[in-house]
Amino acid sequence: MEKHLIFLGAPGSGKGTQAKLMVSECGYNHLSTGDLLRAEVAKQSPLGLKAKAIMESGALVNDELVLELLKKNCELDKHNYLFDGFPRNISQAKSLEEVVLKGHNALAVYFHIDLNLLKERLVNRRACGQCGTIYNLLFSPPKVAGVCDNCGGKDLKHRDDDKEEAVVNRLKVFESTITPVLSYYEAKGVLRRVDASKKVHEVFGEVKKSLEK
Ligand code: AP5
Repeated sequence: MEKHLIFLGAPGSGKGTQAKLMVSECGYNHLSTGDLLRAEVAKQSPLGLKAKAIMESGALVNDELVLELLKKNCELDKHNYLFDGFPRNISQAKSLEEVVLKGHNALAVYFHIDLNLLKERLVNRRACGQCGTIYNLLFSPPKVAGVCDNCGGKDLKHRDDDKEEAVVNRLKVFESTITPVLSYYEAKGVLRRVDASKKVHEVFGEVKKSLEK
C-alpha cells in the first residue's frame, strides 16, 4: 500500500466513516482538517475564533490558515497519514504536494456519489462528543437513542454546519472546487474512484481493493 492516503469527496460522502475503518484495520493516522478546525473552535483559539462563523456558513477557511494547522499536526517521516478534507481546491492540492508531502508518495481516493443523496446523510448525522464515533439517525442509529454504542457517552452531537442551509452551501462549494483537484491527481496517475453510494462495508471493500491496483 502507498505510504499516505488522501480522501476526496463531497461533504457527507463518507470520508470520515471510511477513514475510521482504515485507521482501525490498516493503522493509518487520521488527519482531518475539519476535526482540527473544530478543536480550535472548541478551544476558542485565535484561529478557532476566525474559523467559527466561516465553518457555520459552509464556506472554506483561508488556505494558509488550514495549511499551517495541517503542517503543525503531521510528522511525515514517522507516520502513515490519511488526509481527510484536505485538499479542497487546486491551490491546497499543490501546497500539499510541495509544502507537506515533499516527495512522499500518496494515493488519492475519490468517494463518488450523486450530491442529491447527501443532504439526508448530513442533517441526520450525529457524532459522539467523547470518542468521535459517527452515527446516522436514519441509516446507522445508536442501539439506544442518544447513547454511544462504543463508549457509552451520552453526548451525541449535531454539527452546526449540518443544518440545512449550511449543507446546501457546502455542497455548492464542493461542486465549484473539486474538478481541478481530480484532474490534478488523475494526471499524476494516483487517483482511485469508489462508489460511495453503497453500504458502508461495501464502500470499505472497494477502498481496500482500489489501493491494491
Ligand atoms: P469537514 O469536517 O472536512 O467536513 P466535510 O468535508 O464537509 O465532510 P463531512 O465530515 O461533512 O463528511 P464525510 O465525508 O466525512 O462524511 P461522514 O463519514 O461523516 O469540514 C467542515 C468545514 O471545515 C468545511 O465546510 C470548512 O469550513 C472547514 N474546512 C475543513 N477542511 C478545510 C480545508 N482543507 N480548507 C478550508 N476549509 C476547511 O458521513 C456523513 C453521514 O453519512 C454520517 O451520518 C454517516 O453515518 C453517514 N454515512 C457514511 N457513509 C454512509 C453510507 N455508505 N451509507 C449511508 N450513510 C453513510
